[in-house]
Amino acid sequence: MFPVKTNSVLLLMQIMLGLLVFASMVLHCQGLSRHTFVVKETPYTRLCSTKNILTVNGKFPGPTLQVRKGETIVVDVHNKGDYNITIHWHGVKQPRYPWSDGPEYITQCPIQPGKKFRQKVIFSSEEGTLWWHAHSDFTRATVYGAIIIHPKKGTHYPFPKPYAEFPIILGEWWKQGIMELYETFRLSGGDPNVSDAYTINGQPGDLYPCSKSETVKLMVDHGKTYLLRIINAALQDILFFAVAKHNITVVGTDASYTKPLTTDYIAISPGQTIDVLMKANQPQGDYYMAASVYSSAAGVTYDNTTTTAILHYNGTYNASSRPYLPNLPSYNDTNASASFTGKLRSLADEDHPIKVPLNISTKLFYAASVNTFPCNNRTSYCEGPNGTRLAASLNNISFELPTTDILKAYYNHIGGVYGDQFPSVPPLLFNFTADYLPSFLLTPKIGTEVKVLEYNSTVELVFQGTNLAAGTDHPMHIHGYSFYVVGWGFGNFDKDKDPLGYNLVDPPLQNTIAVPKNGWATIRFKANNPGVWFMHCHLERHLSWGMDSAFIVKNGDYPEAQLISPPPDMPPC
Ligand code: C2O
Ligand code: CU
Repeated sequence: MFPVKTNSVLLLMQIMLGLLVFASMVLHCQGLSRHTFVVKETPYTRLCSTKNILTVNGKFPGPTLQVRKGETIVVDVHNKGDYNITIHWHGVKQPRYPWSDGPEYITQCPIQPGKKFRQKVIFSSEEGTLWWHAHSDFTRATVYGAIIIHPKKGTHYPFPKPYAEFPIILGEWWKQGIMELYETFRLSGGDPNVSDAYTINGQPGDLYPCSKSETVKLMVDHGKTYLLRIINAALQDILFFAVAKHNITVVGTDASYTKPLTTDYIAISPGQTIDVLMKANQPQGDYYMAASVYSSAAGVTYDNTTTTAILHYNGTYNASSRPYLPNLPSYNDTNASASFTGKLRSLADEDHPIKVPLNISTKLFYAASVNTFPCNNRTSYCEGPNGTRLAASLNNISFELPTTDILKAYYNHIGGVYGDQFPSVPPLLFNFTADYLPSFLLTPKIGTEVKVLEYNSTVELVFQGTNLAAGTDHPMHIHGYSFYVVGWGFGNFDKDKDPLGYNLVDPPLQNTIAVPKNGWATIRFKANNPGVWFMHCHLERHLSWGMDSAFIVKNGDYPEAQLISPPPDMPPC
């Protein structure tokens, strides 16, 4: 009846379809797989109450990305929520392409509500487990998911192929809304409210109210070996994790293989991933896998609950009434945390050679402190110690995010956004880990300073934790790089003695390292990835307080050593 209209509609549809096919062919010809992430509010019920949380595609935890080593994928991120958001691919080095890295006001302006951003995720040497998460305010509390990087076709794990694999994503849950949590935290000047539960794959488990029927269950066959890809996505806490009556064998961390390390528990920092093999070799029955906090700062309140999932043996047998619980180290067991982390070693075999820099061109020493600012009760809340506001710093600079991103400013030579004078050593040397420190040391400066590195410089960076305000562990993370952890210890770093003990043979290759409470850790890396790369403590409160900085790694002098140009759709501020 309406031939003309129908035809033109049909034609239009054909053209549109053609365009779509063409667009996906272009991506396909480049071998790129495509994903769509729609960030939106979704109602979820936990601990007997329902609230809206930010999710990706309505899922919590969000979708798992499966890739092969060396692949590049495209993720279209649509912000259908009410808040600014960015997405970061934690541990993915994004060679020469910081544009898609994600941290807000470092490499991009946030994606505003209703807007979208096409991100290219470029995998290179990573193999194993990583994860993605939101990187704005506290939004990563619920916006996260696993990234599984399989070996290239025709290559294999450096261990016998497990019968099956399970991601184990550890998280943290608040009954309060996350935006509200963030706002009260920001205003109060004190510590954030502690969480109401920890979670495994989004579920608190049997030990919490209204949670039992949803507890995560892993079904295993007796005699088979399983690969658990453990990710700590918690906002604020290092966690201990164990499986009752089962030893586990660590085979990788932060998407790099390790020498097999058999243990009865692990300590895992926010940001870190640990791959373990678990042999189902116990009498058939139900066993808990569980995680609880490691919280080392004196006088700081913490969530003392325990999250569980059930390891269930398939078959018919008389099950004992209640699953066994594992013994986890106690919440303040600094030795248990540091000694586990200190046992990690790179696999360092013929197929996985290590490339730890031996001649160092750039030596850096960063003191990581929790600090306080004097506080005026009339203009702000002062819930830090003695009526102060809590802060944090690296080399006495409390990092303040700019209002347009550093990468754009660097690339386009826009002045006044950041300073390039981040100090290589603390401005004042003191007994960092002394029991009592004079209060004048407590107040940091505020700044947006970055460290500029020459292309291919070989960097050694000593992180020194201090006992200002309260000594605690700091899981330090660098974007765009993995680094070798060549040494660590308690107390003050001794520049004459401690380097003699460095492991330059098989140090673990990580992207996050927990600097032990009132201790130090030394990392090495080669600055061969040009760009702007955020560096921060992965405890979200410390990040928010300013325990951050960035590296600008300059271009090398040939095209393959230089930044790729930005995509056309960088979000505006
Ligand atoms: Cu998990 Cu700035 O990163
Ligand atoms: Cu920290």
